[in-house]
Formats: sequence, structure tokens, C-alpha cells
Amino acid sequence: MTVLNWNPAWDTGIEAIDGQHRNLLAQFESLIAAIHQNHLHDQIPGLLTFLSDYVEFHFTTEEGYMQAAQFPGLAGHKARHDELRPGWSS
Ligand SMILES: [Fe+2]
Repeated sequence: MTVLNWNPAWDTGIEAIDGQHRNLLAQFESLIAAIHQNHLHDQIPGLLTFLSDYVEFHFTTEEGYMQAAQFPGLAGHKARHDELRPGWSS
């Protein structure tokens, strides 16, 4: 059963960003499946570690694209990212 479905409206048209978003969704889907299948020790720690690292990689990549494009919403978007970064708080 798929819980998280990609919405084509989320596509940015930037291949790197869209690929990362799809990969994030797939990894969260794997995490949900592992929780439902009670793989507490053999899969969940690795998935959480991957997601923590990959989310930061993605946020950095996305902010770089926004900065390069002089995206006017960069500060607001980065603030949302910062709220989600481990160890960061607003
Ligand atoms: Fe993103």
C-alpha cells in the first residue's frame, strides 16, 4: 500500500530538485512501510540516518538553486527549512 503519492503539481522542472523530492518521498514511504512491518532494528535506524543526511543535502541543493536564480522567496523558504533542520529552532 502506497501512503505517499507524488503530485505532478510539485514538479519544479529542475531535474535535480524533482529527482531529490521523488527520492525523499520514496524513502519516507520505505520508512512508513518499515514501521508498519515492525522492522524496528534492521531497517528503521538506517532509514532515519539516511533521511537526516539526505534532507540536509536536499535543502542545501535547493537553496543553492534559489540563490542562483535570485528567487525572491529564498529567505522565507530557507526559514521553513531551518525549522526542519535537526538542532535548529526558530
Ligand atoms: Fe525541497
